[in-house]
Amino acid sequence: MKILAIETSCDDTSSAVVENGTEVLSNIISSQIPIHAKYNGVVPELASRAHIQNVNIVVENALKNAGISFETFSDNIDCISCTYGPGLAGSLLVGVMTAKTLSYIYKKPLIPINHIEGHIFSAAIENKNLKPPFLSVVISGGHTELVIIKDYGKYKFLGGTRDDACGEAFDKAAKILGLAYPGGPIIDKFAKQGNPDAVKFTRPMLKGTWDFSFSGIKTAVLNYSKKADIKNQKIINDICASFQQAVAETVVTKAVAAAKEFSLNSVALGGGVSCNSQIREMFASECKKNKINLFLPSPVFCTDNAAMVAHVAYHKALKKKFYYPSKNVLSIKPSLELENW
Ligand code: KG4
Ligand code: ZN
Repeated sequence: MKILAIETSCDDTSSAVVENGTEVLSNIISSQIPIHAKYNGVVPELASRAHIQNVNIVVENALKNAGISFETFSDNIDCISCTYGPGLAGSLLVGVMTAKTLSYIYKKPLIPINHIEGHIFSAAIENKNLKPPFLSVVISGGHTELVIIKDYGKYKFLGGTRDDACGEAFDKAAKILGLAYPGGPIIDKFAKQGNPDAVKFTRPMLKGTWDFSFSGIKTAVLNYSKKADIKNQKIINDICASFQQAVAETVVTKAVAAAKEFSLNSVALGGGVSCNSQIREMFASECKKNKINLFLPSPVFCTDNAAMVAHVAYHKALKKKFYYPSKNVLSIKPSLELENW
C-alpha cells in the first residue's frame, strides 16, 4: 500500500510517499528557517504564507522522487494522509486543504493524522524491531511528553510539560545568549566545547509526577547571563554545556524511571530535540545500564517530516480508519490531544 502524506503543522512543508509503512520512497522537506530566523521564532502568518507557496512543488517532488506523476497518481497511490493537529491553524489548513483536494479529485481515502503520533512512531520507520508496548519520549519544539504505547491507537499519557516544551527551552536559552534560531542545534554544537559542570543549573524533577518544567532552567540561564560576559565564546560554550546537561539529565532520569516503573523494556525517542547528541548518548548509556532497548530515529525523522505521518497512516489504513471528503467533514484541530482509536 502506497501512501502520499502531507505535513504542514508548523514551519516545515513536507510530503512523502511511503510503501507499507516503512519503505520511504520519498520524503521532501522544505524548511522555512531562513524566513523565521530573523524573528527568533516561528511567525504563524509567515509560516502559512510560505506553506501556500511551497506545498504544490513539495508534493510534486515527493511524487516525482517516488517515480509517480499526477498522470500515474490513480494507479500508484492508495491513500492520502495529512496532519490535522496539533499545530498552527493557518499552517494546518494548507496541508489539510491540499490533501482533501487530492483525495476528492483522485477519489482516494483520506487519513488524518495527529502530529504527535507521527513523532511517537518515527523510530519504527527504520526499525522493524520497535513494537508496542514501549515508552515514547516526545521532545520537540512544541511538546514534551511521556506516553505508554500499548499499540497503534492505544495510549496512556503519563506526563507532559507544565510550561515550556523541551525544544522551546533550547530556543529561548539560545535567544538569551544572542544565538540564532533554532537554538537547539547551536547549543548542541557549542556545548561540545564547553564544561558541563561550569554552572550548576537546577534539575526540575517534579517528584511524584511524570510532568516536566523547563521554564526554571531557562530563567536560571537568563539570570546567570546577566552577570556573565556573554561576548566571550568560552563562557557561551560553558553555559550551553551546563544548560544542555541539566535538560538531558532531567529528561533521561524521568524517562528511564518511567520505563522501570511500568516494566517497559523498550524506549523510543521522537521530536526535534531527539537529534541532540548528548541526549542521545545519555539515553544510550542509561538504557544499556538498565537493560532497556533504545530506539532512536535518524535525524531526518526526528524533526517534522511527512514520512512519519505516512507511517502512522498505514497502521490506521490497516484498521480501515478512513475519511472520504465527499462524505465526511474533516477540519483542522490546532489543540488536538493524543486520542485512542
Ligand atoms: O519536532 P520539531 O521539528 O518541531 C516541532 O514539532 O516542534 O522540533 C523542533 C525543535 C526546535 O526547538 C529545535 O531547536 C529542536 O527541535 N532541535 C534540537 C536539536 N535539533 C533540533 N534541540 C536540541 N539539540 C538539537 N540537536
Ligand atoms: Zn513536530
